Amino acid sequence: MSMGEQKDRIMEVEDLTVRFFTYEGIVKAIDAIDLDVIRGETLGVVGETGSGKSVTTYAMMNLVPPPGKIVKGKVVYYRDGRPLVLTEMEEEDIRKLRGSEISRIFQEPKAALNPVFTVGSQVAEAILIHRLNEMLDLAIKNLESSEKSTLNSWRLSVLKRARKDPSDILVRFVKRIPILRRLYWTPLRKEVRKEVVRLFQLMGIPDPDRVYDMYPHELSGGMQQRVVIATALSCNPHLLIADEPTTNLDVTVEAQILELMKELKEKLGTTLIYITHDMGVIAEMSQRVAVMYAGNIVEVADVYTTFKKPLHPYTKGLLEAIPMPGKPLKDIPGTVPNLINPPSGCRFHPRCAQAMDICKKSKPKLVEVEPEHWVACFLYHNEVDEVVES
Ligand SMILES: Nc1ncnc2c1ncn2[C@@H]1O[C@H](COP(=O)(O)OP(=O)(O)OP(=O)(O)O)[C@@H](O)[C@H]1O
Ligand code: SF4
Ligand SMILES: [Mg+2]
Repeated sequence: MSMGEQKDRIMEVEDLTVRFFTYEGIVKAIDAIDLDVIRGETLGVVGETGSGKSVTTYAMMNLVPPPGKIVKGKVVYYRDGRPLVLTEMEEEDIRKLRGSEISRIFQEPKAALNPVFTVGSQVAEAILIHRLNEMLDLAIKNLESSEKSTLNSWRLSVLKRARKDPSDILVRFVKRIPILRRLYWTPLRKEVRKEVVRLFQLMGIPDPDRVYDMYPHELSGGMQQRVVIATALSCNPHLLIADEPTTNLDVTVEAQILELMKELKEKLGTTLIYITHDMGVIAEMSQRVAVMYAGNIVEVADVYTTFKKPLHPYTKGLLEAIPMPGKPLKDIPGTVPNLINPPSGCRFHPRCAQAMDICKKSKPKLVEVEPEHWVACFLYHNEVDEVVES
């Protein structure tokens, strides 16, 4: 797809096809999808459960869990305009990108936090992995301007050696012996702690210095999720994928977290992919919206168009299913299909009131029917997507 060709893309997904090879059969989870992510935008991804939102974004980090596999297509990440094909890179190189340039907030904060470590130390760990040199520089600068003592000059020399060569034999020795580590590493730990406290503050966590030393179970769900978001932001990611980060939170806390994420995004200039099944949250958060159904992207448009002039019958169905005072709730009839044996042609046809003969036989292509408005439906064009079975 040539979507946003003239725009500054941060990511391009092309013909992405994911299969899960299970005992019951091959789950056709993601079916040849194309999607562009524009630098600096918030792209909302919406669809019912099982539509492929999480798997698509796992594939964007080349992190599809087994028994899943990307069987076709590619994911390109643009770093300073230079394309990096993630689907062809060595795992070791992608790992460096993950958590540093491309970061993810998981659906479930409990799974993201380790119960046996304090929350502060967990964020500190992420910073030490991804921003060690920056922290060492800060610690060195501070030591150089603090009072001269034998201990400080020893510390300085250890930190400088670590900055120059992390595998330095003396540095390795110091790191391995707890007493030495405490003695020499204090200036570094202080800097990292300061940075964590700053992030907690940014996340609206009250009394951040005290929260640093607390364990996950001592925090409310909302606070835990703030910590998880702080961890995701701790490495200043260029692209942040938020996968339903407010599930299980009550509405007030959800509203606070959404507000906070919008603010942070503005402040840091991060590109955000925001996944949710809630159209209300989509309206609140996104600039552009990609609607997914049964492993396909069925419509892409800016948020205004999505709500005011939706084209795809599924998008219209999602909008009618939004609870509104005084309006009867209209669920989309039928259920999400089993993707081991997905419906032929347009996967939505068994649930679509406007289905025609062609819909059962052929798969509609995602076509730009109006500027920047893409839809995969034969009501608006007759272009067939030639799917090669894989
Ligand atoms: N580990 C797995 N094994 C088999 N199939 C899987 C696995 N993970 C995902 N799938 C399948 O891939 C499809 C897409 O799942 P995905 O988790 O991306 O949906 P989702 O849109 O994120 O849904 P939800 O809103 O529930 O999070 C589903 O049909 C699902 O059954
Ligand atoms: S292609 Fe046909 S079945 Fe699919 S959404 Fe459009 S009208 Fe409905
Ligand atoms: Mg999901």
